[in-house]
Parts: sequence; C-alpha cells; structure tokens
Amino acid sequence: MTIDISEATAQEQLFLLLENSQQNQTWVKLLLSKYRGAEKELRRLTVRPIVLRNETALTFVYSYKTRDITKNFSPAEGLTHIRELLGNHFKSAHFFSTTNESQLDISKNGKATLHTRSLAVAAATPQEHDREKKRFVDIKREYLTAIGVTDQQRQLIPAMSHKWKQINKFIEVFSQALHTTDLALERPLEIVDFGSGKGYLTFALHDYLHHAVKNNARVTGVELREALVDLCNKTAATLENTGLDFVCGDVKTHAPKTTDVMIALHACDIATDYAINYGIRAGASIIMCSPCCHKQIRQQIQSPALLKPMLQYGVHIGLQAEMVTDSLRALLLEANGYSTKVFEFISLEHTDKNKMILAVKRKTAGDNTDTLAQIAEIKAFYGIKEHCLESLLQEK
Ligand SMILES: C[S@@+](CC[C@H](N)C(=O)[O-])C[C@H]1O[C@@H](n2cnc3c(N)ncnc32)[C@H](O)[C@@H]1O
Repeated sequence: MTIDISEATAQEQLFLLLENSQQNQTWVKLLLSKYRGAEKELRRLTVRPIVLRNETALTFVYSYKTRDITKNFSPAEGLTHIRELLGNHFKSAHFFSTTNESQLDISKNGKATLHTRSLAVAAATPQEHDREKKRFVDIKREYLTAIGVTDQQRQLIPAMSHKWKQINKFIEVFSQALHTTDLALERPLEIVDFGSGKGYLTFALHDYLHHAVKNNARVTGVELREALVDLCNKTAATLENTGLDFVCGDVKTHAPKTTDVMIALHACDIATDYAINYGIRAGASIIMCSPCCHKQIRQQIQSPALLKPMLQYGVHIGLQAEMVTDSLRALLLEANGYSTKVFEFISLEHTDKNKMILAVKRKTAGDNTDTLAQIAEIKAFYGIKEHCLESLLQEK
C-alpha cells in the first residue's frame, strides 16, 4: 500500500513512511538519537520488527551508557510510542527500509527537515560495488555476514551500505598507514581498539590483517558496555577467529601493554584524549582516531575580540571548539614524535562528526620546541586553561 505523503509536514511524513513500511513489511531499522529527555544516560533507541509467537511486533532497544533495555510492542502501540518520543525527547531519526533511507532532524527552534534517498542503486549493483572496493575489503568474507553487513548470499544488506562504506574507508586508510611504518610484519602485531562498540571495524581489521596482510595480529576491542563485549566475543568464537578478543573496560583505566596500533573511532569527548595518551605512552606506531563530541574545550573557549561577530552564532562555537580541540590533539601528537594528518572520514549513523586524526610514529622524534610554542599560543588566543590530552601527557 502506498500513502500519498506529499502534503504532510516533515515529521508527519516520517510517521507515514513508518506506518507504510510497517504495513508493507519493508521496515529494517529506525534509530532515534539526540535524546533531550530526563532519563539519565539514555543515548539512543533502535526499533526493529520481529516475529513474536507468530505475530509481528516492534522491538525497542533503549541504549544507555553501559547497558541496553529491550521492550516489545504491538505495531500499533509501537508506532504510537514513537510518535510520543520523536520531537518531544529525541531530536533526530534515521530510518532504513528495504528500499529507502530517511533522516529527520529537528532543530532547537522546532523546525523539522526530512531527507530521503533510495537505496535501490546500492542494492541493485552489488557486483559493481564489489569490483570498486575489492582492493581493500572482499564482500564475500564470512565475518561480514556474521556482523550483519551482508546476507546469507554474501550480498550487501542495503540498510548497511553506510557501514560498508565506513569499513572500506577505514581499511583503506589503515592499509596505507601500515605501509608507511617500519613495523615488522613477520611477528604478530598488537592492536587495541577503544570503544569498539559492535565491533564492525575491529572484525574488519582482524580479518584484513590475518587474510590480506597474513599477519597473526592480536586484536583487542575494549568496550564499556558488557552486552556488546559478550555479543562480539560470541561472534568471534563462532567465526573461530584466533587472536581476536573483546574486553569490558574503560579507556581511562585500561592496563597498558605493548601496542603497535591504537584505534579509537567515535569515542566520546575526552575518551579520545585518553586513547591517544595510551597510544603515545605505549609507543604505538599508528594512532587512528575519529573524535566524537568536543565538550571540554567548548566550555572553556573565549571568543577572541576579532572573532566575536562570527562566534555569536552557537553553531560556529561548536565548529570552532571541534577545530581547536582536534588541532591541539594533532599538534600534541606532532610534538610527541608523530607525523599527523587530519582529514574527512565517514560519520556514524547517529552523529555527523566525520573527521579522522591519523598519526604515524616518525623514525626520529625531532625538535618539538616550535610545536609546543604553537600549542601554547593557540591556547592563550582562545583562553583555554586545560586540554585533556595535554594534561594526561604531562602526568608522570
Ligand atoms: C559511537 S560508538 C563507536 C563504535 C565503533 N568504534 C565504531 O566506530 O563503529 C562508541 C563506543 O565507545 C564506547 N565508549 C564510550 N566511552 C568509553 C570509554 N571510556 N571506554 C571504553 N568504551 C567507551 C561506547 O559504549 C560505544 O560503544
């Protein structure tokens, strides 16, 4: 059944798409994020269809900082519940059906915008997609099915096309960085991935090293949320992946050990600083991080007089805080003996942050006097008292 949605408001259009998709059984996943309600530590909500006692239902997974809570609703109840939550509590929705991807965003003043695109191209041309990406990730690899990126026929699941793109870009960047280091590939590399989440990139890295590079790397995912750690360990065991394990832990307190490569993708706020500090102290040859939010510097930043007219707009302060935080991270890495690049990566579904900081250890540390002076000048210019990474690096 098709409902005419052309006259509806953006938010109403999304509800109609949901209803339509529920009736047509094309619903894959709805992700609500940017939670602004009263529940402490609630981050996001994922809604998927399931079959319960031969009846279709909607399963709601509420993701808190360290745990998940699952509740099941009939389709009608579930849709009503989504109506109550979206707009009032969650300010962003990302919906995947088997044919379309839609993104709804509600601004601070309540204005809603909806973007919808067809997934038909990604679904219709898997061979083309394979060919294009074969250099880095082979879509036929078994782990991609185990982690839900491909189906049993090893075809890309359309709703996972964004994740597939992210995995490919990640392996491409890693592969290029690996070849600029003098890491001895005859011995197993030691890799740590902080904030490994569902392990998409951790599995991809392990598989790439074992099968493409032929290195028996030991890859450890460190993740706060126990349920995700258990899920990833179960998948690793099913795949009989040797040298891959996931541990429940906090990057802030993770016991140091020899590390060749430190990864931290989309770890929140200063978790990225703890991860970089860990990588530098462990002497990692490669440090790859994709920062998430930038609260610490945003709270401290003072607008220099000249920039005040530009920074009167809240959105610019956010952009400025991001640029200053990550520039200081990159310069601190340079000052600690790394060649550093900052470039565009692929964002996650629930954040528009899409930057990567890639640092490769130089053969010689070099003189860092000028870089340290630049760091001090930038901090003074913006009135920044403390940068988490700098403080961590100064600790004995
Ligand atoms: C946005 S997800 C990213 C997952 C994965 N790295 C990726 O890019 O697909 C961030 C993950 O970091 C975890 N996390 C946040 N703070 C952490 C910390 N201090 N120590 C370990 N994990 C943390 C969260 O639980 C979450 O699973």
